[in-house]
Amino acid sequence: MAALSTISRRLACPMTKRTLTTSSQLNYISVGDKLPDVTLYEGNPGGKVQTGELFAGKKGLIFGVPGAFTPGCSATHLPGYVEHLDSIKAKGVDEVVCVAVNDPFVMAAWGDAHAATGKIRMLADTCGDFTKALDMELDLAAVLGNVRCKRFAMVVEDGVVTGMEVEPDGTGLTCSLAPAVLGKL
Ligand code: BEZ
Repeated sequence: MAALSTISRRLACPMTKRTLTTSSQLNYISVGDKLPDVTLYEGNPGGKVQTGELFAGKKGLIFGVPGAFTPGCSATHLPGYVEHLDSIKAKGVDEVVCVAVNDPFVMAAWGDAHAATGKIRMLADTCGDFTKALDMELDLAAVLGNVRCKRFAMVVEDGVVTGMEVEPDGTGLTCSLAPAVLGKL
């Protein structure tokens, strides 16, 4: 069982440079870690995207969500990034990516439904390999049928994590939202 101090650190949601945590304190990926190289899918099962190549020489922002078309992700999380995209890019972010444990057709349809297609890359973590590599698994079997991804936002520069926000309960809509992340870029 995890020590209480470890649990409380996992519940923390820091992104300011002063309070940034390291991978030695947290199980999930953290500032200073290299983004794992995993295959994601864009548009269809043939649209392979290697996460190790996504941000080579670039600054990127990935936000992970528990599921396409779920109320919080659809009403707040994704629309916030669409709305604030220009401001995020003005802060030097080259590419914004949304990831969920869903199939690529669902992710594409979700992007279309929110005018995100062509602006935010809607990538499917079909089998949850990326989620597992980040240690972001969240068992939502009782609600959504399987293990999903915690809600998070991560800044990656040239393949290295430089900012990380994980929702304390995995699904909340606080520190991983676009306005919160924008304030820290
Ligand atoms: C949501 O509304 O975003 C949500 C719903 C059920 C499980 C997780 C997230």
